[in-house]
Amino acid sequence: MFLIILGLVALWFLFRWYRELARVPNIREKYVYITGCDSGFGKLLAKHLDKLGFRVIAACYTERGEEELKKVSSERLNTVHLDVVSTDSVNKATAFIKSLVGEKGLWAVVNNAGVSVPSGPCEWMTIEDYKSMLDVNLNGVIGVTLSVLPLIKKARGRVVNVASVFGRISAFGGPYCVSKFGVEAFNDSLRMNMAAFGVKVLCIEPGFFKTSVTDIHLLRSNLKNLWDKQPDDIKEQYGHDYPERANVTLEKNVVKWLDADLMKVVNCMEHAISAVHPRTRYSPGWDAKFVWLPLSYLPSWFSDKMLLKDLAKPKASIH
Ligand SMILES: NC(=O)c1ccc[n+]([C@@H]2O[C@H](COP(=O)([O-])OP(=O)(O)OC[C@H]3O[C@@H](n4cnc5c(N)ncnc54)[C@H](OP(=O)(O)O)[C@@H]3O)[C@@H](O)[C@H]2O)c1
Repeated sequence: MFLIILGLVALWFLFRWYRELARVPNIREKYVYITGCDSGFGKLLAKHLDKLGFRVIAACYTERGEEELKKVSSERLNTVHLDVVSTDSVNKATAFIKSLVGEKGLWAVVNNAGVSVPSGPCEWMTIEDYKSMLDVNLNGVIGVTLSVLPLIKKARGRVVNVASVFGRISAFGGPYCVSKFGVEAFNDSLRMNMAAFGVKVLCIEPGFFKTSVTDIHLLRSNLKNLWDKQPDDIKEQYGHDYPERANVTLEKNVVKWLDADLMKVVNCMEHAISAVHPRTRYSPGWDAKFVWLPLSYLPSWFSDKMLLKDLAKPKASIH
């Protein structure tokens, strides 16, 4: 019986592997719009798709980002300035894309731009901290998507949303997990709404990868900035050595998981864009597959216990 089940599972994986090999035709005529191409996954994806022959429209936040990308790509690749927080900037980028793609429409948009700070205990934040991150990570995704959706429907194309495995489990405080849970919700409702139009909506949920958003210096200075703003009673409750203890756990919890192979994420993005049968969700990274996702399915009392075990504790709770 055990062998029969094992055989059936193996057969299922073989079938899925074979089914997922097929790629869409005419990639040289397909336009792909990617946000946040100055660095990290976005930049690597833009270069990768350009090499494969796609017509990449790489949106960069900075002029330097645009120049650097142009130097290393073919003349097929176009860059455009984009600040996902500004409606004016989003509309200008969309007008440029419209003029490029013409009647063919846009094959895919990859909502990749994002920020990771401020992050820390919820009570250390102001509502402005929440708003500023939600504006980039969530409203930015929604705004960009809505602005190009008519072009994507024309091509019966795809929307690829970069969420995070922290859109499946809230493992730390602050607006990041809130923003990524929001991206997951937007992704799922849009997927159902667009099914009738032949538009596929796919979600990427990476674990920890080594990019600017997980840079340990950024995370340390984020912690210091937030701590410096806290009133004395909060500092008393957490203990004056809290920043040092939190830095130790930061090293232990984040640095140990950081995966330097960004291609694991880029390959998932490419599959979502180019496979005839893409997956609804991709979770690149061993930590995503074997730690965070399984933890997200377990009862809250258990996952809370596991997560709290590794976090720095406020002095008030240390007995
Ligand atoms: N690295 C990870 O472990 C990890 C895990 C899960 C999910 N993610 C997600 O993956 C996505 C890409 O992040 P990454 O890891 O590749 O980090 P990254 O290198 O910092 O990429 C983020 C990009 O977004 C750009 N950006 C920031 N604010 C923007 C704005 N207002 N408008 C337009 N672009 C803006 C950044 O530009 P500048 O560089 O000029 O600031 C940068 O190019 C993010 O959505 C992130 O949340 C990352």
